[in-house]
Amino acid sequence: MAGGGFAAPAGGGTHFEAKITPIVIISCIMAATGGLMFGYDVGVSGGVTSMDHFLKKFFPTVYWRTQEGELDSNYCKYDNQGLQLFTSSLYLAGLTSTFFASYTTRRLGRKLTMLIAGVFFIFGVILNASAVNIEMLIIGRILLGCGVGFANQAVPLFLSEIAPTRIRGGLNILFQLNVTIGILFANLVNYGTAKIKGGWGWRLSLGLAGIPAVLLTVGSLLVVDTPNSLIERGRLEEGKEVLRKIRGTDKIEPEFLELVEASRVAKQVKHPFRNLLKRRNRPQLVIAMALQIFQQFTGINAIMFYAPVLFNTLGFKDDASLYSAVITGAVNVISTVVSIYSVDKLGRRFLLLEAGVQMFFSQLVIAIVLGIKVKDHSTNLHNSYAILVVIMVCTFVSAFAWSWGPLGWLIPSETFPLETRSAGQSVTVCVNLLFTFVIAQAFLSMLCHFKFGIFLFFSGWVLIMSVFVLFLVPETKNVPIEEMTEKVWKQHWLWKRYIDEEEERENGGGYELENKHRNGFDPAAKL
Ligand code: BGC
Repeated sequence: MAGGGFAAPAGGGTHFEAKITPIVIISCIMAATGGLMFGYDVGVSGGVTSMDHFLKKFFPTVYWRTQEGELDSNYCKYDNQGLQLFTSSLYLAGLTSTFFASYTTRRLGRKLTMLIAGVFFIFGVILNASAVNIEMLIIGRILLGCGVGFANQAVPLFLSEIAPTRIRGGLNILFQLNVTIGILFANLVNYGTAKIKGGWGWRLSLGLAGIPAVLLTVGSLLVVDTPNSLIERGRLEEGKEVLRKIRGTDKIEPEFLELVEASRVAKQVKHPFRNLLKRRNRPQLVIAMALQIFQQFTGINAIMFYAPVLFNTLGFKDDASLYSAVITGAVNVISTVVSIYSVDKLGRRFLLLEAGVQMFFSQLVIAIVLGIKVKDHSTNLHNSYAILVVIMVCTFVSAFAWSWGPLGWLIPSETFPLETRSAGQSVTVCVNLLFTFVIAQAFLSMLCHFKFGIFLFFSGWVLIMSVFVLFLVPETKNVPIEEMTEKVWKQHWLWKRYIDEEEERENGGGYELENKHRNGFDPAAKL
């Protein structure tokens, strides 16, 4: 997420008897609303901040700057800390609340945590849609951010625990797919509401987030808590009953015993975060953190948050800016589907490296076109160049959506060993939201100062991250989770040095338990 914390690991492991029961289907719908909500919040701010009425009401200085005659430079029209705070405050709140969410998911359960998220969302939406001053706007965004923090922790975890093992990997990317659908939905809504006469279209844009918010809240009241969570909180009989219900069979004893054992093992890890810092966990930690930082430094959210503003900057009319954002949103969704189909066939490295080339060149072309064609004080990019820019933005977005988008979440979730998986996942979510915040807060100012060079800046990062992937990210396609150490880390030219044999023997307990119990149970019960 992001995103959110997309916790479900894909991989082999024990297969227990399980049917796809109605309860599992309801869970998928829950994933949809949690992901949609996050995506909607990501996508809605850009369109709203490019609407004249909204700007006039809350950011009059920006509004006057966007009107001709008041310009310092085209690239600086929207450079305003308050405006950026409107977008970024959500991520700051999200990252802070992840820590509380990690506590409530463990102590109060997944169901209640999702309910808390839903309630935060509803209050956030009400404040935003009825805002009469900037304070209400920002507080509303902060409440939405709290919702994101709680939902992104609990929903994916809930899913990974409720889903039969064989569909876990798919569900992982499904969450990301819903994020992209949420973004597209927000872009479409903005396109429609911008046309509303009377200047209240932005209220509708912000208010329609209420739909997924209410769905999530009602959904969380309807579902049962996960067996893992019940067992973790000592409610063994209840946990067994729920397991029977969700698996649609009475033959649940082996899985139940494994869950009980998993919960016991998880409780033994007294300091999961300290554990994470041990030398032998370095490869996964470095990769998970780097993937999150790099994911944001591809520049994707410059597009997702600010596409309409960016297109406006280039001289597109309001309408053209908004429908260009719809086009990029649609490309994002379709390319995520491509990822679902190809990730286990082509592999993670192939997708990341191919996307690296595609993102590098598309950003280079954008920078060149803007550098030559958009002058500081003249507006309107010639039509054919404008189309070229939109095509290049789509080329960039599609590459991101089948690589760094989903894989930034999938790879950490499948590489951490059991003993650090939960803590690793929290760190992954936090680092992601932190850098999402940085981009949200800095992009418009960077655009003002770097001008077209901002795209060279991001393409430089794409180069660095591709080299990182080339040398340091091993292939994990089709490797069962419990065999990662042997088949992946111990075979890697650099990382094998960190999997210190002696230390491993000393701390053999954790590994043996992991091998014994595999991933048939809660991967992240200690979050
Ligand atoms: C990222 C988000 C981004 C989204 C775009 C996610 O993987 O974490 O920051 O907005 O992809 O589709």
